[in-house]
Amino acid sequence: MAHYTVLEFVDGRLRMLDQRRLPQEMTYFETEDYRQAADAIREMVVRGAPAIGVAAAYAMALAALHSQARDSAALLGELEQAAGVLRAARPTAVNLFWAVERIMECIKNTPDGPVADLGQAVLREAGAIAAENAWLCKQIGLNALELVPEQATFIHHCNTGALATVEYGTALGIISTAHAHGKKVFAYVDETRPRLQGARLTAWELQQLGIPHAVIVDGASGYIMKSRHVDLAVVGCDRVAANGDTANKIGTYNLAIVARAHGVPFYVAAPTSSIDLAIASGEQIEIEERSASEVVRVGAEQITPQGTQVANPAFDVTPAEYITAFVTEAGIARPPFGESLAEMVEKAKDLTRNV
Ligand code: MRU
Repeated sequence: MAHYTVLEFVDGRLRMLDQRRLPQEMTYFETEDYRQAADAIREMVVRGAPAIGVAAAYAMALAALHSQARDSAALLGELEQAAGVLRAARPTAVNLFWAVERIMECIKNTPDGPVADLGQAVLREAGAIAAENAWLCKQIGLNALELVPEQATFIHHCNTGALATVEYGTALGIISTAHAHGKKVFAYVDETRPRLQGARLTAWELQQLGIPHAVIVDGASGYIMKSRHVDLAVVGCDRVAANGDTANKIGTYNLAIVARAHGVPFYVAAPTSSIDLAIASGEQIEIEERSASEVVRVGAEQITPQGTQVANPAFDVTPAEYITAFVTEAGIARPPFGESLAEMVEKAKDLTRNV
C-alpha cells in the first residue's frame, strides 16, 4: 500500500496528488468542478491509465453531485456533456473511456428518482471502480509471482506504481509484490523522456518501498541488457488491442525490440479494463501528440535552438509478437493473444462481481 494518498473524494471534492511537482513537492490539487478535473487529466496532475480512469469516474460524480438539474432527464443530458469533456482530455488510455461508459451505464440502469439519489448512485459507482482497481492491481502482482525468479533484475519503463493506479501499481506492483514476498529484486528504471515519469515518479516510489534500483537514460537499455544481467522487462499499458498490440508510453516499443534481441522476456501488466476487444489491432489506437514544449525544454531551460521543429508522440504501439505474456487480474495471457486476452476479459467479469 502507498504511504500517501494519490486520489480521493472527500466532502464533494476530488483531491489528487499533483504529480507534476513530484518528487520535489507533495501538493494536492482539489476541485469540485468536473471541467477542472478534465484539465487536470490533460495537464497530467494525475496520469497513468488506471488512475485516469478512476479520476474520470469521480469527475462524473462531481458533475452529478454539483448539478442544478431539476429532473433525471436533465441530469442525464448534463452527464452526457460531462462525459464528452472528459473523453476529450486524453485519447490513448482506454480506461478513461471505459470508466466514463460504466458511469453512464450506471445512470441508465438506476431507477428514475430524485436527482440527489442519482448523484449518490454515480458516486457509489465511482467508489466501486476505485475499489476494484486496487483489488485488481494487487492480483496482478500476485499472479506474476510465478514469472519472477528468486533473484530478479527487472527493467521498467515509465511509471506504473500507485501513482499511476491509485493503489499498488501494475508493472511496478509486480516488482513490489516480488520484493514483499522475499525475492531479491533490483530494478533498472528508464528515465522516460520527456516527462521523466521514471526518473521522477518510479524512483520516488521505489525509494519509499525500499527497493534497490538505478535510473538509466532511455537509450541505455540495450547496453544494460548486453553487458549486465536483466531477467525480465515489465511495463504497463494504455490500451491493448484484441490481437495483443499494446499502446504504452513512448519508448516501450524500442525497449521490447531490445529485449527480444537479448532474449529478455517482455511482460505487460494489463488490467482487463485496459484491454479493448473492440479494436482488432494497434493500428486503430489513437496516439496522443503532446506539446512541443515538453521536448524542447528540460525543466525551465530551453535545450534546442529557437524554432526547432518537434514531434512528440506520447505513446507507441508494441506489436504483439514482441510480448511474451500479459499479466492480468484474472491470470496470465500467453500467445495466441487473440484467444487468451478475450478469455481473461470474461474471467475478470466473474471475479470483479465478487469484489
Ligand atoms: O502519459 P502517462 O504518464 O499517463 O503514461 C503512463 C503510461 O504509459 C503507463 O505505462 C500506463 O498508463 C500504465 S500505468 C499502470
